[in-house]
Amino acid sequence: ICFVCHESFSFFLLLFKKISRAELFDFHGNVQNFQARPDDILIATYPKAGTTWVSYILDLLYFGQTERQTSTPIFDRVAFLESTISPMGPGLTDDQTYIHTYILPRCYIPIIYVARNAKDNMVSYFHFDRMTRTQPEPGEWSSYIHRFMEGKMVFGSWYDHVNGWWKKKQTHSKLHYMFYEDLSEDTGREIDNLCSFLGLSRSDEEKKRVASGVQFDNMKKDDTTNYSTHCAMDFKISPFMRKGKVGDWKNHFTVAQSQQCDEDYEKKMKNSTLQFRTEI
Ligand code: A3P
Repeated sequence: ICFVCHESFSFFLLLFKKISRAELFDFHGNVQNFQARPDDILIATYPKAGTTWVSYILDLLYFGQTERQTSTPIFDRVAFLESTISPMGPGLTDDQTYIHTYILPRCYIPIIYVARNAKDNMVSYFHFDRMTRTQPEPGEWSSYIHRFMEGKMVFGSWYDHVNGWWKKKQTHSKLHYMFYEDLSEDTGREIDNLCSFLGLSRSDEEKKRVASGVQFDNMKKDDTTNYSTHCAMDFKISPFMRKGKVGDWKNHFTVAQSQQCDEDYEKKMKNSTLQFRTEI
């Protein structure tokens, strides 16, 4: 079983009223009572960094193509621990529902973190916020960029998120830090790396099958992976499996917006050794 967690140091959560737009407020969660099983895997990402993609890869690596894949949406197969939003919530009791970084010392299970470059992540998040009624209204793109830079987002600051987990990797030997851009460049290589990290032996043929099954076009047309059955999303506004590209930010940022983001990025990331690619 893989658990998916969008983890953040400063935690933001939606006030959820049925499926209507909600206000954003600061929330400090508590999963003191959460008890992982030794064979659990935690997938942690900032939203829109490739959660669904990696979830499906792991699902196929562990369970293969079975009836499970054709009958159950990915968000039911891979539980969102922090979500209380039906149908994505895992059915944990209330005091177990919100993931906090304190989960790490208590539950020493393999963690797979997926990061995506800030600009593409921002664009993807903007479209997701437009089409998902459980998210606050995104407003105009020009103001959204500023909110993103200020970290006033559901699940907090992208900069804190990617850096926090990057630091954690130095002390947590069971943390595999992946990049969306690498997955996009060579999915097969990244599946090999995942298998090595998890100690999984899968034949070349099996791995090829997984790599082909998780290609964007296949996931986009598969109703169990494209979120088309999720009641909070409006596909008339934007699809969940939108473009799946590295570098789509170029279609959204003006030259001035891009420069402003770069300057802010330099400041926020100046002490970080993390390197992202904004094109491949
Ligand atoms: P875009 O909005 O840029 O298309 P998450 O699963 O964390 O919510 O991330 C969703 C983003 O990952 C979307 O990005 C989606 O299209 C992309 N994605 C999902 N599966 C993918 C795949 N197989 N190949 C490339 N991108 C994928």
